[in-house]
Amino acid sequence: MVRVLFVCLGNICRSPMAEAVFAHRVHAAGLQDSIEVDSAGTGHWHVGQSANPGSLTILEREDIPYDGRARLLTGDDLEEFDYIVAMDRQNQADIMAMGSGRAKVVLFMQFAPQAGVAEVPDPYYDGRFEVVYELVKQASDGLLAAIRKVHAL
Ligand code: 4NP
Repeated sequence: MVRVLFVCLGNICRSPMAEAVFAHRVHAAGLQDSIEVDSAGTGHWHVGQSANPGSLTILEREDIPYDGRARLLTGDDLEEFDYIVAMDRQNQADIMAMGSGRAKVVLFMQFAPQAGVAEVPDPYYDGRFEVVYELVKQASDGLLAAIRKVHAL
């Protein structure tokens, strides 16, 4: 089993969108028994809450199910997941500051070089959820392709 954890700041906007879109693609590829997907946040403010309406509205429109609740990233996650996928450089630095483990901590947009951006921008204050969705789709395709190649799936 390959375990993938998407991480942002609040775990209500970007990482739930990434978790849902990536899991949807994993299912479409018939790989749900080989790749496990989850998400978490580095900030505690929204723990226990469902995803932001900005993310949920797009996911519903696209017929992509999501019913996750925000949770905090833990030290155990760094050991238990194979890939921890950060949405921006600050997330990546915050994750790495928690220590190190087995997990490879990567930046999501590195899997979509054609997008020309290094980070998934935070939509919490500016409401630009469509931009997030477009980037998440591209990076999900790239990440899934990379995992399939590395793990021969
Ligand atoms: P996310 O967005 O990291 O994509 O879930 C945010 C959600 C909440 C906050 C910041 C960003 N906040 O400051 O509460």
